[in-house]
Amino acid sequence: MDTKLVIAMVGLPARGKSTMARKIAGTLELDEVHVRIFNNGDVRRQLSPKNTSAPELFSPENPEGVKFRDKCARINLGLALDFLKSDGEVAIIDATNVTCQRRKLTRKTFPDFPVLFIECMNTDEEALEANLERKAFLKEFSHLSQEQALDSFLKRIDFYESVYEPLNEERNFILIDSFEGYILQEQLTDSLPYYDRIRDLITTRIVRNLFLVRHGETYFNQEDRIGGNSDLTDMGLAQANGLADYFANERIPIIFTSNYKRTLQTAAPIAKKQEHCSIISLPEFNEIYAGVCDGMTYSEIREQMPEVATNRKHNKYDYVYPEGEGYASMEERIHRGLQKVFYLNNYDDNIMIVGHRAVNRMILSDFVFRPKEEVPYIYMPQNRYYHIQIDPHKKIFELKPYTKKPIKDKI
Ligand code: F6P
Repeated sequence: MDTKLVIAMVGLPARGKSTMARKIAGTLELDEVHVRIFNNGDVRRQLSPKNTSAPELFSPENPEGVKFRDKCARINLGLALDFLKSDGEVAIIDATNVTCQRRKLTRKTFPDFPVLFIECMNTDEEALEANLERKAFLKEFSHLSQEQALDSFLKRIDFYESVYEPLNEERNFILIDSFEGYILQEQLTDSLPYYDRIRDLITTRIVRNLFLVRHGETYFNQEDRIGGNSDLTDMGLAQANGLADYFANERIPIIFTSNYKRTLQTAAPIAKKQEHCSIISLPEFNEIYAGVCDGMTYSEIREQMPEVATNRKHNKYDYVYPEGEGYASMEERIHRGLQKVFYLNNYDDNIMIVGHRAVNRMILSDFVFRPKEEVPYIYMPQNRYYHIQIDPHKKIFELKPYTKKPIKDKI
């Protein structure tokens, strides 16, 4: 019995519960634990495939809705119980479980198995907003416009908020900030199997497949000009198409880019070759801003502002361009961009980021320690990409070509 555990997720919609549930399941699976996720929403959609997305269904004032959702919850808990009674080891109940009553029902369903409640909170308004926008694309809202879908989802959240009761009487719980990946509070009364493992993985970044791509060649690249917002050249477009063909065999649900044309133009053909792929552009991944030097070539800088060239060469990592940025000053925003990526990608196996030379160096160094004087010199070509894989058992970074005969790389 002591290898069996129930994990019940807790939290308002769009707070990262399913992502966390998948992360826990995926990691425990690597340790050969027999784990399964039981999602209340899946039962709801199966029982009544038509329009269970209407907000009224979630109103605590609607007796029919309350009854129907209670039925879904009981069925889901029953499935989890069957799983644990056979050879299942960890059952994860992926549901809001925001009321004491629902949590009591969960505990009552499993008198013989310990229950750990994991609540996901997110206090980062911007990340929450971006997540809500993504929810509007869910299949259950496909009959609605994006605006209507968002409105419906927000009403649903309001209903959940009106009955929300925080955790406190539960014997075992962990409260986490799902955006930052921090544990905010925990209470452990029983001795739970896998507890240390779970606690550990909540705060550890796990990356199944991160494809870190640099945008294709631009007109500015051709002239060795920095910054700006220039378009891809023919060569750049050929590189983007090469990437699109190569990644057509992978599933890429989201491509994260910067706000600049060169990353968006590189991502567009890749997304087009996928069945379902959205592009999310994050300002956090905009290229290092060279301030007064933006748009200049390196030789113009050497000639016209020799002190900039000299000082930068002396300590490239810490150097900040006049009125601009430096590698060190980008640290925080790059880290924040990555937090957004992991929050928004739903713990999908594959993530793609199309970034820039300096940005990609910083992204890479967020995953693997490199002495800071080396970071600004990490090789970041346009004809290859980095494949990053990190889990508790391995850490792999590979620089791979995306065409059989690599398209030449100028810089
Ligand atoms: O030249 C392309 C570019 O992305 C510029 O926009 C940027 O200023 C530069 O690379 C960053 O590389 P480095 O820090 O080596 O100058």
